[in-house]
This record gives sequence, structure tokens and C-alpha cells, in this order.
Amino acid sequence: MGLAEISGMPEPERFLRDYWQQQPVLIRQAFADFRCPISMDEVAGLALEESVESRLVRGSDKVGWDLAHGPFDEATLTGLPERDWTLLVQDVDKLLPELAPVLDRFTFLPRWRLDDLMISIAADGGSVGAHRDRYDVFLLQAEGRRRWLIDSQPNSDLEDETGGPLRLLRDFRTSDDLLLEPGDMLYLPPGIPHHGIADGNCQTWSIGFRGPKPADLLAELFQCLVERCPDQVLGDHLQQPAPGTVDLDPASLTALRNTLRATMQADDALLDHCIAAALGAPRGGRDSALDDVAAIPDPLPPNAQLERNPATRFLRLPEVRDLLYVNGEAWTVDPACRALIETLTVQRRLQVSDLHLERHGEAGRKLLTRLLEGGHWWILDD
Ligand code: SIN
Ligand code: CO
Repeated sequence: MGLAEISGMPEPERFLRDYWQQQPVLIRQAFADFRCPISMDEVAGLALEESVESRLVRGSDKVGWDLAHGPFDEATLTGLPERDWTLLVQDVDKLLPELAPVLDRFTFLPRWRLDDLMISIAADGGSVGAHRDRYDVFLLQAEGRRRWLIDSQPNSDLEDETGGPLRLLRDFRTSDDLLLEPGDMLYLPPGIPHHGIADGNCQTWSIGFRGPKPADLLAELFQCLVERCPDQVLGDHLQQPAPGTVDLDPASLTALRNTLRATMQADDALLDHCIAAALGAPRGGRDSALDDVAAIPDPLPPNAQLERNPATRFLRLPEVRDLLYVNGEAWTVDPACRALIETLTVQRRLQVSDLHLERHGEAGRKLLTRLLEGGHWWILDD
């Protein structure tokens, strides 16, 4: 049986029931009449910037692969050959808020799972090789055409090649050979082998939904435990003279073990806090806050236009309404601000007067100022 193919984006309930985290699906015209809002030159321009994560993959299975990391200089990008290269730019959703309407189509999925929008531009034949990813991904064909070779029912003994510059698959097997046109989109659950090859110059968007790694949660928990740990120095439990050996005496060892066990106690509130902090942490340790935030006028003119920083991650725990996690940091919020929080974490753009600050009192004004000062919302120039 071939890979599932449907026409148009299904209802969220149907998508969750039939495909999400279960099986790949090709959604023809998921974005009907899609007009790509960013040109290939603009994508290439992003890869010149110091703060932007980008990669250039050159080659093919036949001639071998070459991987270089950005930022790139203009001469490198303008001097690229006619074929067989792909330039990939990470986190474009955080760089260009104007692309957000496309991501809004995925708001039926949990926001904390959304990792980033990666955009690739490629010349004819350009590819990053056959591989599998460890997260759910939607591959939207934004411009031109791309051929996707998929192994929709991979054998469990498939191995990743670790020798070359790319993590490719040994013995990739094709079960489906698909040609995607602009607006078509492929959904792949984690672990599905895929090999995309540009059919002429093309642009592909990867909307990635990456869950946390247990090790990340554990790292957060340990950091919290260390911060809570009493600042004391432990002694020993020596019961007899130590006969000059390097052996640790059993009584001291038992006492140290017990101390460690006692410091590792974590109730649900602590575990939930660590989970929220880990899920909300900026990706790759990068903070969305800006270095230089413009002075904030006091009072804010009611007609000032505000925009949410798309890189800021907001998160709330169920039933813990007095905490708002902002990039993993817990902010205590006044109950008077609840409605304001709904607006400030969901809307992308608004005018100060839309916030009706007078209804939220001093606490509301303070919250907005804190968000503006932290670079989580911006005042747009006229
Ligand atoms: C690409 O856009 O060329 C690669 C995306 C992927 O395979 O994950
Ligand atoms: Co991939």
C-alpha cells in the first residue's frame, strides 16, 4: 500500500486521528494557490548574517557530500554552480514575523511543540541526502518543484551512516516517489526515511515540531535541585580509626547516599516547573530578547503599534494561573492581568488602545512594560 495522499488540509480532528505521529501523508494543495512570500535571494541574504544559523550542502550520492556552516560571504553564494547545492536557513519564523500567517495554519498543534521554520533553497539536483529526522515535520513546497523519495515502512534495522559530513542512511529504500508542486505539503512523523531532490531551482519550507529530550528535562530538574540544595559541607561518619587506606568507610558512604536521595526529592510542583522551564527555553540556548530595546515612552501613546517578538516562547501550566513562563523563566502575574495575558501571548500585532490597559490597572501596565523592556514585544516605528 502506497503513502497516503489527500487533497487539501484535513480537519484537525481527522489529521490527529489518522496521521499525526502515526503515518506520513502527502497533502496536495494544503496551501491552495500558495504564493511564496519570500524570494530565494532574500533567503540567501539571511545566510549572510552573523546571528543566523545556516548550512550549505553541496554534492550528491555519486560525487560525495560537502557541508559548510554559515554565515557565508556574498562571493560564496553568488559563485554557486548551476546544480547540486542546497542552502538551509534555520529559525526563519523568528527572523521574519511576516511569515507567521503560514504558521497560523498549524495552531491546532501544541505551540510548545513548534520548533522552527527552516527554509531551504536549492539548485536543480540539490539535496541533503537520504536521512531521517527525530521530530515531526511538515515539508511545504513553497516555490518550484521537489521530488521526494520516501520509505514509508522502514525496516527497524535501518542504520545511520556516521562517516561523512551528513548523517545519511545506509541502504535507503524507496517505497514512494513523489513530485511536489507549490502549495503541496508532506507530513512525516519522526523516523521516516526521506530524500528530497530539487527538480529545477526550488524553495522548501520545513515546519518542525520537536519534543523535548528526556535529558533536557533532567538537566533542568538537576539545575533546580542544585539551586534548592542547602549550602552546607558534609562530614564523615567514621566509627573506627581509618587505617591510612583510600577506602571510603561504609557508614559515611551510606550517609552520603541518603543525603543525595533526600536532595533529589521532587514533588509535582517542582517537576511541573522544570518541565515548563525546559519546554519554554529558547531553542539552542539563544534568547529572543533584544540587546538594545528602544526607550519606552511613558505613557504609551494609545495609537502606538505593537508587535510580538516571534522568537519569545510563552507557556502556562494547567491550573497555575499566577505564573507565566517567558522563555522558560517563571513570571508571577497578577490575577487582574489574566485577560491581558490571553491577548499578549496570542495576538501578533495590535495597537496600544486595543489592550484597554485602564481595565487592568497598574499590574497590566507593569506587565506590558516588562514585556517591552525584555524585547518580547516591540513598538513599531510609524
Ligand atoms: C530540504 O529542505 O532540502 C531538506 C529538508 C529535510 O529533508 O528535512
Ligand atoms: Co529531513
